[in-house]
Amino acid sequence: MSRTIKLAVLISGNGSNLQSIIDAIDSGQLDAEIKTVISNNRSAHGLVRATRHGLPTWVLEHRDFEDRDRFDDALQHYLAAIEPDYIVLAGFMRILGPRFIEAFADKILNIHPSLLPAYKGLNTHQRALDNNEREHGVSIHLVTAKLDDGPVILQAGYPIKPGDKAADLQRRGHRLEHQMYPQLLRWLSDQSLVIKAGQIFYKQALLENPIQFKP
Ligand code: GRF
Repeated sequence: MSRTIKLAVLISGNGSNLQSIIDAIDSGQLDAEIKTVISNNRSAHGLVRATRHGLPTWVLEHRDFEDRDRFDDALQHYLAAIEPDYIVLAGFMRILGPRFIEAFADKILNIHPSLLPAYKGLNTHQRALDNNEREHGVSIHLVTAKLDDGPVILQAGYPIKPGDKAADLQRRGHRLEHQMYPQLLRWLSDQSLVIKAGQIFYKQALLENPIQFKP
């Protein structure tokens, strides 16, 4: 049974993942409504994409706030009024505090450019190259208070080829990312994926290992 899920998408930059979600909705492949696009960076290109598609946007720059907690509180207040089913972090380069995460438990998703738990944090492509890895990848996980640490729901790997640069990996990863978020959101909308009390259920079974994405 499908239901229209209400989304808040949080971005900081280019917004190509946001675009992939917009496109999936527009083409009827995803039953969702983007209630708001929030950026902590007013020059994020993702805001242009959102406006172009008539989506409401909100800029919340952290330098306008005294400290991290005040920023989180303002964001929490705004989102509480919107009541999104899911908060989709799509290249949102800001760590959210435990109080915020607790307030939206089971609702915050993040996409990360590595095969988590490997390569948490930044510059994952270059770090994988520096370590002579043969494979890199993308993970979508539930957000918990620890950085890039919540249960991984969906994952896809891709090979690292001789001579690859960080930009090559990024490009390869993005191609997967743009299919993965729409797919995962589709599962949430048709309820084949359910998140409850920090646990993930896929087709009614407790997910013990990440689902391997098949393009
Ligand atoms: C993606 O690579 C994502 O994995 C990471 O930030 C990047 C955002 O890209 N968290 P975009 O802004 O969606 O184009």
